[in-house]
Amino acid sequence: MNSVRTQGPQPRELIRRMREYHPPLGDRSGLRLDFNENTLACSPRVLEVLGQISRAELTMYPEREPAERLIADHLKLKPAQVLLTNGVDEAIHVLCQTYLGAGDEVLLPVPTYSMYAVYASGTDAKLVEVQTDADFRFPLEALLAKITPATKVIAIANPNSPTGQVVQRDDILRVVEAAPQAVVLVDEAYFHFYGQTVIDLVGRVPNVIVMRTFSKAYGLAGLRLGVLAADEEQMRWMRRVISPYSVNSLALACLPAAIGDQAYIDWYADDVLAARGEFTAALDRMDVRYWPSEANFVLTHIGPSHAEFCRAMRERGVLVRDRSADPGCDGCVRITIGTRKHMQRGVLAMEECLREIEWMGDAE
Ligand SMILES: Cc1ncc(COP(=O)(O)O)c(C=O)c1O
Repeated sequence: MNSVRTQGPQPRELIRRMREYHPPLGDRSGLRLDFNENTLACSPRVLEVLGQISRAELTMYPEREPAERLIADHLKLKPAQVLLTNGVDEAIHVLCQTYLGAGDEVLLPVPTYSMYAVYASGTDAKLVEVQTDADFRFPLEALLAKITPATKVIAIANPNSPTGQVVQRDDILRVVEAAPQAVVLVDEAYFHFYGQTVIDLVGRVPNVIVMRTFSKAYGLAGLRLGVLAADEEQMRWMRRVISPYSVNSLALACLPAAIGDQAYIDWYADDVLAARGEFTAALDRMDVRYWPSEANFVLTHIGPSHAEFCRAMRERGVLVRDRSADPGCDGCVRITIGTRKHMQRGVLAMEECLREIEWMGDAE
């Protein structure tokens, strides 16, 4: 039957203008050095909890509060200062929905984590990007110069992705002081590999919001669990925005075991840091340029053959992430640092691939 297609429902104008964001999640069998996940596994204690979940438990809507009390205690905060979220991504979404409207501005040092721009572009606010220099150092003065009364959100990933660069506490404080009308998001997704934090500012400085995730060191990216920490006053607004059920009961059930097994996290982070040292030494040997990183990944500069290199690595079962399209990252490939054993395999694959593509250096 031939039906006449009339024009269907139309989305809001700004949704029409949004770009789709499709991370390359298809066919990820192999060694996953592409999404900065834990490359091995979560704590065995978490798996034990999952194995004990009863059928009856799954019939109930999840209750966040008991787990929020535990994580607050773990982070030395008050329960009213923490909100568990469906990964940090939901926390960013909630933050954008809470604070951004027409006439507002979001300030982003770039390159940085893609989802800040994605969620900000779903609001009526204007995106203001501040490009870092060729070393990807935090552009403090340029950022301060862009702050206006309309600035409502400033997003800082610390360490930053895809660069691995960090921002010093004093610089964060200067931004926080220069923009009291704005929320300053400090995204500490890679905290366990860096060890420095500004979470102690929560409750003392009203416009600081800190985020943490269980997707990286904890090895629970599939469960989707994140933490948003903020001043109680601010948290009241964000609790209005978030769905009461967005963190599922499996994630909530696993949280006590995950934070209870500190030895596992310490072991994993230590192994990754040792692996990062060995990996960067191998990059030096191979003459591959890279930026020093404080996270569980390293941004390398492969040059014009970046796509060919990523393809050759995939053929050897090692997934790495082409970041060449990120601002200022032409020719760059980001490589996750996993366990030492995994990275030994990563180095072997890399040596073979550079030979295979007849790599002549990053300026080719
Ligand atoms: C800086 C940063 N923040 C947040 C995330 C995502 O965290 P989650 O899995 O908790 O949504 C990532 C993931 O790559 C990231 O690099």
